[in-house]
Amino acid sequence: MPKLLLLPGDGIGPEVTDEVRRVAERLTNDLTIDERPFGGASFDALGAPLTDDTLAAAKAADAVLMGAVGGPKWAAAPRHLRPEAGLLALRAGMEVFANLRPAICYGPLADASTLKREVVEGLDLMIVRELTGGVYFGQPRGVETLPDGQRRGVDTQVYTTHEIERVSRVAFELARRRRGKVTSADKSNVMETGQLWREVVTALHAREYADVTLEHILADAAAMVLVRNPRHFDVLVTDNLFGDILSDEAAQLTGSMGMLPSAALGAPGAPGLYEPIHGSAPDIAGQGVANPLAAILSFEMALRWSLGRPDLADRLADAVQAALAAGARTRDIGGQLSTREMGDAVLAHL
Ligand code: IPM
Ligand code: MG
Repeated sequence: MPKLLLLPGDGIGPEVTDEVRRVAERLTNDLTIDERPFGGASFDALGAPLTDDTLAAAKAADAVLMGAVGGPKWAAAPRHLRPEAGLLALRAGMEVFANLRPAICYGPLADASTLKREVVEGLDLMIVRELTGGVYFGQPRGVETLPDGQRRGVDTQVYTTHEIERVSRVAFELARRRRGKVTSADKSNVMETGQLWREVVTALHAREYADVTLEHILADAAAMVLVRNPRHFDVLVTDNLFGDILSDEAAQLTGSMGMLPSAALGAPGAPGLYEPIHGSAPDIAGQGVANPLAAILSFEMALRWSLGRPDLADRLADAVQAALAAGARTRDIGGQLSTREMGDAVLAHL
């Protein structure tokens, strides 16, 4: 039986993953669901944000679904014990280098976006964010004190040919099944890694993907085009840091951070890591008002990409659409429903 590991984590994480569990149990009994503390919750219970046992369980599962990590409670912990360090260690440990972040503007939600309906309506773009390299992991890093008493912080942006190639390959493959266009965003005008990024993507394209349209864009311009004409994009591939930033921007196009799922994939056949892109939202945690749809849609991606059940994924996607069409709305998208009631609305359409 396929195995799903739930990592509820912190803040609104447990609230939204509870709804995933209910949806999963309704959809299929051919799935073993296991659950472990993660992030700050794991630090409190087990002394580390990601334990060896939890990483081993993640690698042994078919899919891992995380809620969210972090919060003010752990902000003063040393960096390597912070909840976010657990998430980075999980991504690195599972070697999930390609992070798929789809931004879809559902028709009924077009007015929930802060952008005009005519700009976002029908939006369907896929950000492919490199997830296990770049400045998130580069060495050296740290803060040192200089002889004159000043402090100096260092992060290192670093990419190898192999890292750029494997994530670009995912983008080209996806584009072939979509509208056939890849836009690659970098800062090749100022960064060495950016220049290498552009060269490697261009060479891979010429060698293996000449049938796909490839366009390069500077990451700052990409940020602008995202709000001016987001439907310009089909697949947008970029590095870890730019992908982090541009995917938050893309989320807002769809109406709310509470709507955006993601899938992080590694080698074919290896377990995938699924996360809503929203954070732990400490301001609303524990109130039962968070939107569970990003988490539920992350489970939909897990059914499709890791659990071998595209049929169930389609049913779930249809149920979410139907719930929205019927007017189901949590606060973030202009309604009154609680987390549980939104879960109920999806269940009602399954
Ligand atoms: C995300 C988040 C994480 C990131 C944080 C929580 C470490 O912002 O998944 O986008 O920066 O990758
Ligand atoms: Mg982010």
